[in-house]
Amino acid sequence: MKKIVFFNNKYINSKNAFISYEDRGFQFADSIYEVIAFINNNFIDLDFHLRRLRRSLKLIDIKYSFNKKNLQKIFKKLIKINKNKKGLIYLQISRGVQPRNHSYNKNLKPTIIIYTIKKNLNENLDKLSGKKAITYPDLRWKRRDIKSVSLLPNVLAAKAASKKSAYEAILIDNDFVTEGTASNIWIVKKNKLITHPANTDILKGITRQSIVKIIKKEKLVLSEKKIKKSELFIADEVFLTSSSSFVTPIVKIDNKLINKGRIGKITYNLAKIYNSKFQ
Ligand SMILES: Cc1ncc(COP(=O)(O)O)c(C=O)c1O
Repeated sequence: MKKIVFFNNKYINSKNAFISYEDRGFQFADSIYEVIAFINNNFIDLDFHLRRLRRSLKLIDIKYSFNKKNLQKIFKKLIKINKNKKGLIYLQISRGVQPRNHSYNKNLKPTIIIYTIKKNLNENLDKLSGKKAITYPDLRWKRRDIKSVSLLPNVLAAKAASKKSAYEAILIDNDFVTEGTASNIWIVKKNKLITHPANTDILKGITRQSIVKIIKKEKLVLSEKKIKKSELFIADEVFLTSSSSFVTPIVKIDNKLINKGRIGKITYNLAKIYNSKFQ
């Protein structure tokens, strides 16, 4: 079936959405992106995603202005013409096209692509299942808070995970957990929820932010601190969060079972509360 994408201000057949070989996104990964889950016309945490998009653009000095109303119109149109009900919106903005040079010219025209991917989301609690993860070295740069498309270390880690039939790779930097290749990582120990502080070492996930709010509302105990790799294996529960996976329990890491391979109570309850906004 024909797929329509929004490419540089036009709705076109995806087969015709070509970028120049001189696009800086292609040459240097000089580009940022956002991923937003949708169910019907409900865009999950849209305001927070747009705020992070503005921040990423600003931090890498790409001048591209947008407003929420227009973007929402584009998203709705794409969902309608592609007959999508549930899935993910990908929005990517690169600095634009320029003859190859590491340093960028001023006033380039950014390249923008927005497309939808039909996907079953993890909103159905009855289908919540515990996943396997591996640990893998974190080989990334030092500004992981910017949602840049420079994802080669994540790609290699994700491939290592899929080779072992694992759902996610948990990245380890100097013996500490940072995050997953496309998710934030949490542990539960003695009823306390622990996750990496939102600094430049990780991407501050929008789902992470929602879970922090739920934790506070439910008066659970939260500690934003670094987790040692060894703490993963003795955690009572481990789970990951992301826009595409919501709250996903991890029940096995590197062949070691977590919580005897069962979904933990706190993880399940957080998933239940988080998912309730999509019912
Ligand atoms: C490296 C990384 N960390 C965390 C996340 C989770 O962020 P969010 O909850 O905003 O999807 C993602 C999402 O793709 C990611 O790529």
